[in-house]
Amino acid sequence: MLRDSFGRVATDLRVSLTDKCNLRCTYCMPPEGLDWLPNAQLLTADEIVRLVAIGVERLGITEVRYTGGEPLIRRELVDIVTRTAALTPKPQVSLTTNGIGLARLAGPLAEAGLDRVNVSLDTLDAATFKRLAHRDRHADVIAGLAAADAAGLRPVKVNSVLMRGVNEHEAVPLLRWCLEQGYELRFIEQMPLDAQHRWSRDDMVTADEILDLLSGSFDLTPDDLEERGSAPAERFLVDGGPSRVGVIGSVTRPFCGACDRVRLTADGQVRNCLFATEESDLKSALRAGASDEELAARWMAAMARKRAGHGIDDPSFLQPSRPMSAIGG
Ligand code: GTP
Ligand code: 5AD
Ligand code: SF4
Repeated sequence: MLRDSFGRVATDLRVSLTDKCNLRCTYCMPPEGLDWLPNAQLLTADEIVRLVAIGVERLGITEVRYTGGEPLIRRELVDIVTRTAALTPKPQVSLTTNGIGLARLAGPLAEAGLDRVNVSLDTLDAATFKRLAHRDRHADVIAGLAAADAAGLRPVKVNSVLMRGVNEHEAVPLLRWCLEQGYELRFIEQMPLDAQHRWSRDDMVTADEILDLLSGSFDLTPDDLEERGSAPAERFLVDGGPSRVGVIGSVTRPFCGACDRVRLTADGQVRNCLFATEESDLKSALRAGASDEELAARWMAAMARKRAGHGIDDPSFLQPSRPMSAIGG
């Protein structure tokens, strides 16, 4: 089991398949991109599946989420999902993606055993999308969402980061559109995880503000029907339900106390938190011939060092050197 010193147990493994991305969202990376990890440093598909299998078979992982960068650009994705879904006990397998390429891949991924997808979409307007992501791919994302829904990858969840003066005014239209489409929308507070280190608290649209923006047009009541558990999203019934909207208040309403997540980077480092300042190098151990047992022991030791919380409010807070795109969402 992956238990930390505060008694939290990690059962949700989030694996970044690549640090590369085909978009350049302003809150994530600069328009010119970043210095990507050299291919030789990336875990191979076999290495990924071996580590995931150790997590599932020996360490109590029950949910595996593939992320990036953008996971759909990893050519072996369908194969990796197939092999993950074939593990015993079978984990829930999900994907967090920007949606580009999903129109083509949703069907094959569903067939491979993928259960669910979360797709990022910050705007309904193609011109705003182009300005925000520095690529003209809005239509691809919309088509990707529709394909995921048609392939039964439900509930399809949509992640939106609201930015002051950029897309705040879209909170209501975004929710209206997601309700029409049958997607579950979650608004995310922007976190200090951008490559440029430009995050500022004042620019962040907070959970309170998001709820205020929505409450002018919708009647929101806390969804008490389903236990929140370790979920980042606080969920609200919209106009009495059954549709819901989520708010992920990572900064102003932290949920670290119930965290059940652990991350594996594309270059094979275990991170016990999004905001961890140290990592544990499973890749080198694996390539040096470590047994499954030894790798499991290293992984458990890494979890034991997990801190109580992200500490964004501490005066001594330091943004992690890896940006979100190299950690996985
Ligand atoms: P489901 O609701 O189960 O589909 O998963 P999820 O919400 O964990 O998935 P997703 O990958 O879509 O993550 C959405 C957002 O939640 C991320 O972009 C982060 O902003 C936030 N998040 C996820 N895990 C953590 C975490 O461990 N710490 C913090 N602070 N935020 C997290
Ligand atoms: N803060 C909050 N969310 C972010 N995402 C990317 N960078 C940040 C950030 N700095 C979101 C993406 C995607 C999810 C994986 O994380 O929009 O939906
Ligand atoms: Fe790519 Fe996701 Fe970063 Fe946007 S937030 S640039 S989609 S990795």
